[in-house]
Amino acid sequence: MVIVSLINQKGGCGKTTTAVNLSYALANNGNSVLLIDLDPQAHATFSLGIKPKLTTADLLENITSSKPFDLRESLITRANNLYVLPSSIGLSAVEHSLGQREDKLDVLNNFISKYDSSFDYCIIDCPPNLGILTLNALISSDYIIAPVGICELSLKGIENLNNILNMLSEHRNKRINTLYLITQLDGRYKFSKDFYNKVKNIFGSRLLSTTIRTNIHLREAAANGMSIFEYKKYSRGSQDYKQLADEIQDISGKPSAARFTLKGKEFNDVYLVGEFNNWNPNEKYRLKKISTDTWEINLNLERGKYRYKFIVDGKWVNDPGNKFMEDDTFGGKNSIRIIS
Ligand SMILES: Nc1ncnc2c1ncn2[C@@H]1O[C@H](COP(=O)(O)OP(=O)(O)OP(=O)(O)O)[C@@H](O)[C@H]1O
Ligand SMILES: [Mg+2]
Repeated sequence: MVIVSLINQKGGCGKTTTAVNLSYALANNGNSVLLIDLDPQAHATFSLGIKPKLTTADLLENITSSKPFDLRESLITRANNLYVLPSSIGLSAVEHSLGQREDKLDVLNNFISKYDSSFDYCIIDCPPNLGILTLNALISSDYIIAPVGICELSLKGIENLNNILNMLSEHRNKRINTLYLITQLDGRYKFSKDFYNKVKNIFGSRLLSTTIRTNIHLREAAANGMSIFEYKKYSRGSQDYKQLADEIQDISGKPSAARFTLKGKEFNDVYLVGEFNNWNPNEKYRLKKISTDTWEINLNLERGKYRYKFIVDGKWVNDPGNKFMEDDTFGGKNSIRIIS
């Protein structure tokens, strides 16, 4: 799982808009995506029109009181493979109790690392400050995207972020790749162009090639509880966020994630067997129940052709969702998957 956090302490620079629409675009590209709303303002949650049952506040509260918390119970499914862990104002209170713990900066990281093989990407929307919640996101991240709105104060927010990143690399030996994203670019104004050139000079190759242009439909989409892809599929906003998803995939070396899914309510145990594990049903290949009737496992596989089957409560079966099959040596069939 590649973890990407949206961080800039400057408010209103496009963190939430980017978290939501980048998550959607990555999911549209076929990735399994977990979007975590880590902002007590819950803007990502509202801008996807979600009414949460359990939230990041419950997650952190349960961790701090050592109660078990099953992520899958709290996730809201949006689109085919986008899962959202929503937020609520209660998160501010939890942030305070987190501060009392010795492991206060590692709580989120310890939790989400358990789900490493469940998703291709985890996108974290952070609040506009560099407090404990943001630091938890930072420490969990492989990449940070710092949105830079067309204003000097966006750059000020980034100065402080960079100081913290330097401290982290000194004291924790943790290097996080920071990427900068120009947002709310309006090419009609000379100021925008000058500002863009200035930012390019400062950040060089760490400035993403994609820029997000000003687009009123992005604002309207959020107000209507939708991603831009649901609200206005053909718009500058959707073009820009699709391009951003492609660029992030290129940079992060998108794993060749192959998802194997089986539908059914009445099973207890499902394993995947095939040429990748010598047909041996071990724990690593046990499917996870991700909803009342869906079992799933994500594997990173090299390019090639793979023969496989499921073992459902001890019985070997073909994948009913895959019509590609070949004869096996026992007079039956194997399901076939080609990873390109
Ligand atoms: N490219 C854009 N074009 C037009 N409006 C945009 C664009 N990006 C963001 N906005 C709007 O600007 C406002 C602030 O954006 P957003 O909420 O994404 O910023 P933020 O950094 O998450 O803010 P906060 O720091 O408060 O969490 C929102 O109303 C959003 O709809
Ligand atoms: Mg926000």
